[in-house]
Amino acid sequence: MNLTTQHKKIERNVTLLSVGAFVAVAIGGIVEIAPLFWIENTIEQVDGMRPYTPLEQAGRDIYVREGCYSCHSQMIRPFRDEVERYGHYSLAAESMYDHPFQWGSKRTGPDLARVGGRYSDEWHVQHLINPQSVVPESVMPSYSFLSDTQLAAVDPAADLTALRRVGVPYTDADIENAAADLFAQADPNASPGNLAERYPKAQIRDFDGDPARVTEMDALVAYLQMLGTLVDVNSVTAQEELAQETGR
Ligand code: HEC
Repeated sequence: MNLTTQHKKIERNVTLLSVGAFVAVAIGGIVEIAPLFWIENTIEQVDGMRPYTPLEQAGRDIYVREGCYSCHSQMIRPFRDEVERYGHYSLAAESMYDHPFQWGSKRTGPDLARVGGRYSDEWHVQHLINPQSVVPESVMPSYSFLSDTQLAAVDPAADLTALRRVGVPYTDADIENAAADLFAQADPNASPGNLAERYPKAQIRDFDGDPARVTEMDALVAYLQMLGTLVDVNSVTAQEELAQETGR
């Protein structure tokens, strides 16, 4: 049997052709997917990245609930115009604890991946209550109700447990203290205990200018002020450059 008749056999037999096509595609798939199971990490570890505090996580939930992602991205691409405007491009590790991630695909407003520390708490509160009072041409809607809404925590420990199940490394102590941590981070009258040790770089203060209660505004501003502050990107860049120089 020569090659032509063999080929004819495959082409004229639908089942044989399908099996052949499946095998060919499977090989391609395995070559692409299998290595991901063996390499140590698909996301490079970087110093400083940690799970979010219960308050930051609550702020993040409000961010998702209000659909802030429909106008804001959280992903600085490695292009010169973006890096000059927003800062160092986003690293994969910086969104490794985001469930769901907030990279976004629409920028009516600016990228927020590194907005933490760029403005004061007062600015954020004023801006969220009435965006046009600080940026007259802004098309951002008002979220003034956040200051009037007491932060409702149904079960912060359950939230953290759910996140741990999908890979966020909360410790038992984090989960045990979740309810206390949630309020202690924004309540100047409460004791934060060892919150700052368990969550390095956690900012502990009253965020919304109303020390008497913890509101949704506290949570959202705490979240915004944390964005992009956990990883020291300049030292990561230094490491990358060093690695390139030494050819590692
Ligand atoms: C309809 C689109 C829209 C929505 C929805 C929206 N924003 Fe904005 N946002 C903007 C625009 C436009 C700007 C730029 C003008 C300004 O500063 O108000 C902006 C600016 C900002 C800034 C300042 C960023 C900077 O670097 O100057 C922050 C912080 C912010 N928004 C947070 C939020 C949060 C949090 C939410 C959800 C509660 C939200 N935005 C929802 C459009 C939107």
